[in-house]
Amino acid sequence: MERNIVLIGFMAVGKGRTARELARQSGRYAIDCDDLIESFSKMKIREIFEHLGEPHFRRLEKETGLWLEHHVRNTIISTGGGFVNVPNLKKIGVVVYLHSDFEAIVNQVMDHPQAKKKLEKRPLLKSLKKARKLFDSRLPIYREAADVEIDVTGRKTADVAGTILQGLGIAPLAAKDK
Ligand code: S3P
Repeated sequence: MERNIVLIGFMAVGKGRTARELARQSGRYAIDCDDLIESFSKMKIREIFEHLGEPHFRRLEKETGLWLEHHVRNTIISTGGGFVNVPNLKKIGVVVYLHSDFEAIVNQVMDHPQAKKKLEKRPLLKSLKKARKLFDSRLPIYREAADVEIDVTGRKTADVAGTILQGLGIAPLAAKDK
């Protein structure tokens, strides 16, 4: 059985879309930690933050981390920006950090046709000043946790996914099987 690929990185850097592209190029499944948390708790991430608080959300992330370690193989896993802090991260799979600088991430969110939705989904992006502080404090943690780091600034998702697969020595599917 192959190891999972775990994508970490700051909010809105593109972990979800990169995971889906990696799945497409490699023929594996892609799953997302925040989706798992939402389906398990039957609440949106935004509602969990609002009604149960951030510490509760962090506990759910840890539980999800344990579930992934024990039940999931051969899968591309995208994570929320704070999932890097789950204690068993390295046991879940090979950890790939998607890096972009703070300004590029913010500009990309603001320029997106669904900017409002993207911001609503992410309570921690509401204050740009706080988000920047969080980015600065998380950066060394992402770098420490990563087996592989890739700069995604201004790059196409397909190109990023191709580079990741190549770096991990995973053969892409033949064009006809994609
Ligand atoms: C968070 C990132 C979010 C989501 C939650 C907390 C964080 O996911 O898990 O709002 O602590 O950075 P994305 O990274 O997909 O935005």
